[in-house]
Amino acid sequence: MTAKDMLISWLNDAYGMENSLVKILEHQIKDAKDYPEIQTRLQTHLEETRRHADLVKGCVESLGGKTSAVKAGMASLFGQVQAHSTGAAKDELVKNALADYAAENFEVASYTSLISAAQALGEQQVATVCQQILQEDAAMADWLQQNLPTVTQQVLTVATR
Ligand SMILES: [Fe+2]
Ligand SMILES: [Fe+2]
Repeated sequence: MTAKDMLISWLNDAYGMENSLVKILEHQIKDAKDYPEIQTRLQTHLEETRRHADLVKGCVESLGGKTSAVKAGMASLFGQVQAHSTGAAKDELVKNALADYAAENFEVASYTSLISAAQALGEQQVATVCQQILQEDAAMADWLQQNLPTVTQQVLTVATR
C-alpha cells in the first residue's frame, strides 16, 4: 500500500463515519421532538454532516480513488452510538448527547490526523477541506458540552419523582 493509498483509505473511513452519523442524527432529531432548541441544532449539524460526506467523497475522487461502502470497524463503532437512539427510555436525550459528544470528538481526532497526512503528501486542497470540516465538528462538540448540563436537568425535570 502506497502512502497515497493509505490517505485514500483513511478518507474512506471518514466517509463511512459521516454517512453513519447522518443516519444517527436523523434518529435523534425524532427523539428530540419535545426539545426545539436541541432539534434545531441537530438539524443544522445533519445538513453539515451530509455536506461533510460529499466533501470527503470529493477528496477521495480528487486523489484518483473511489468511495467504498461503510467499513466494518467504523460501522460497529457508530452502531454503538446508534443503539442509544433507538431505545424507548425517557433519558434517551442524555444518552444521545453523551454519545454525540464522543462521536464529534472522534471526528475531530480523525480530521486532525487527515490534515497532517494530506500536508505530508503535499495534498494542500485535501488538507484545507478537512480543516473546514473539523471546525464544524469541533463547534458541535463545544455546543454539546455547553448544553449537556441543561439537557440533563430538563430530562430530570420531566421525569416522575
Ligand atoms: Fe463531520
Ligand atoms: Fe460531526
